[in-house]
Order: sequence, then structure tokens, then C-alpha cells
Amino acid sequence: MRNGILGLTAAAAALSLGLTACGGGSGDTAAAPSSGASTTSAAKPGKIGVILPDSKSSARWETADRKYLEEAFKAAGVAYDIQNAQGDKTAFQTIADQMITNGATVLAIVNLDSGTGKAVLDKAKAQGVATIDYDRLTLGGGASYYVSFDNTKVGTLQGEGLVKCLTDKKVDKPIVAELNGSPTDNNATLFKAGYDGVLKPKYDSGDYKKGPDQSVPDWDNTKAGTIFEQMLTSESKIAGVLAANDGLGNAAITVLKKQNLNGKVPVTGQDATVQGLQNILAGDQCMTVYKAVKKEADAAAGLAIALAKGEKPTVSGTTKDTQTSQDVPSVLLDPQSITFDTVKDVVADGYVTKDELCTGDFAAKCTEAGIQ
Ligand code: BGC
Repeated sequence: MRNGILGLTAAAAALSLGLTACGGGSGDTAAAPSSGASTTSAAKPGKIGVILPDSKSSARWETADRKYLEEAFKAAGVAYDIQNAQGDKTAFQTIADQMITNGATVLAIVNLDSGTGKAVLDKAKAQGVATIDYDRLTLGGGASYYVSFDNTKVGTLQGEGLVKCLTDKKVDKPIVAELNGSPTDNNATLFKAGYDGVLKPKYDSGDYKKGPDQSVPDWDNTKAGTIFEQMLTSESKIAGVLAANDGLGNAAITVLKKQNLNGKVPVTGQDATVQGLQNILAGDQCMTVYKAVKKEADAAAGLAIALAKGEKPTVSGTTKDTQTSQDVPSVLLDPQSITFDTVKDVVADGYVTKDELCTGDFAAKCTEAGIQ
């Protein structure tokens, strides 16, 4: 029997069902029982395991994803375990093994690369555990569902944002450097396809000059600094930096600051982190991409909860796995470009608070940017 739910709204609605409360949560935090729920008639839902990738490549995983997933699972009263592999591929596998041994019936992963992600998904499937690729598609992995943003669009927004900033600065034939995400992250490939779709025609027409173009292994911010330092040494006239996320952008800004070039050379980003938004307020970063992680977490949690209850949820979209040519049932959300004038939207959405953003010297900038 297919017990279908339709699309994102319905997936989110599944959250509010909260039929059972069998405790759970990671560590010592027991999940709060859902109010007024009856536990007698419904089957006990299985445990949901989530593996986050690290806490250094972006602040989002611990400050946003964990928080919103936890809230969704608690609201539904399901048992869950959220762990972070801290960039360690061996630990990633061990965590998955432990989750399955401890009775997880649903596993959602943010892979560290497709190879190790696939190994985990294969093992899970062999044990009858339902699988979700969360944020990053595992190429060849065959997960039952994929929940993310339209990542090509993320890249398009970055490319367009950089073009706008270079146009505003009236830079003639700017040399653009590209600081790409991890070569092992399918999202990084999609981001690049998006921004190169905007930049390549400009390189081809001679409006822009293509500068250094390099990927940053594991999105490592320290390596990004070293790479960008070398870029600037080899090409001192870099006039714009397409950095694939706020962490890489900040690494470039730190190097630019040493040469008093910050603010003169526009830098892009992604994730609307506090640091990225502050760099925008300071005028050092041109834009970021806000991905409403709450929606992503709610969609993934909605699917996970339905799967844990033995249902087979249906979603409206699919994504082609470029390795297998298979269509993976998907929920893909819409990203939003953020500049100085729209930083306030991220605050209004509750993603960051005014208190954490508008500290010290940023208070005056916040007022200027209309942040309430
Ligand atoms: C995510 C980005 C994040 C990056 C580094 C990507 O897969 O989509 O939001 O900045 O990984 O963690």
C-alpha cells in the first residue's frame, strides 16, 4: 500500500501528526511528548538517524540544520539521533553503523563525498533502513529521497550578484577569480555550473577576464586562505572573487584586508552566516545566498517521520543522479540573494538574530541597513 503525501506542504503537515511519543533525542535530551497525542493505537515509529558533515565548512550545520531538525522531531514526538562526523569519513561510517545497530529505521545523511556516502546508504538499504540524502546528493547512492535547494540557482545568484557589484563599481574588464567548493561535493559542481553560466559568456565576449579558478578541498577555510593568497600573488589585479560560500569568502576577505583591497574587490558568499552578513554590512562582501534551512529541515523531517511510520511519502520533484541517470524523488527549495539592503530579510525570517548580528561596530551598520 502506498500511503502517499503530496509535496512539501503535505510533507511538512506530516510533522504535526505527532501520533506517538516514544522519547529519544541524542544524548541526554529526551524528546518532549507531543501534546494530546495518543500512543495506544499507532504503531511505534522507528528511530531517525541524521549525520551532519562537519562544523567548520559552514556554521549552518550546527547553528541551523541541527536546531531546526531537532525542533521538528521534538514537535512530532519521534525518537531521533543527530550526530556530526566532524569531517571524518571513518567516523561517518562508524556513526551510521551505530545508528543502525541502535535501531534506526530511517537514515538521513549529508555525505562527505559520494563514495563513502554510497557505502553508508548501501549498508542501510541492505538492513531495510529508509534513506534520505540531506542537502547533498550522493552520486550513485540511490537514496530513496533527496531534500535540498535548487543548487544551480544558488550559483546563478552568486554569478549575477558578482556581476552587479562589478557593474556598480564600474570596473572595466575585471579579472575574476573563482574559489570553488569541495570537488567531492556534488553541490559545489552545481554551484559552479550556475555561476559559470553567468560568467563564461562574459569571459568569452572579453567583457571579463578569467582569472585563477580553483576548488577548495573539503571546503576547508584555512586552505581557502592559502589558495587565495597564491591566487593574488600570481594575479595581483584580481577585481572580483566568486567564493562559493561565506567561509571561503571570509578567507579571501582576510587576505584582501592585508593588502587594503577589502571593499574594493567584491566577494560573494553563501549561507547567510553571521560572519557573512557582517562582512556584507562592513562593505567587504558583495552578497550572500540565503537558504531558508528551516524549510529544508522541515521537509526532510516530514519525510523521515512518514518513513519511520512505515509510510511511503511521494514528493513532486525528481533530480537526475548524473552517475546512474536515475531520477531521485526530490524536494528542492528556492534560494534567495542577499545584499546590504536585504540583510534585514534574513533577520526578519528569524534565521539570525539582531543580537548576534549587530554587535559592536555593526550596530550602526545595522541601523543603516534598516535592521529592526
Ligand atoms: C552546502 C552549503 C555549505 C557547504 C559547506 C554545501 O553542500 O549546500 O550550504 O556551505 O556545503 O558546508
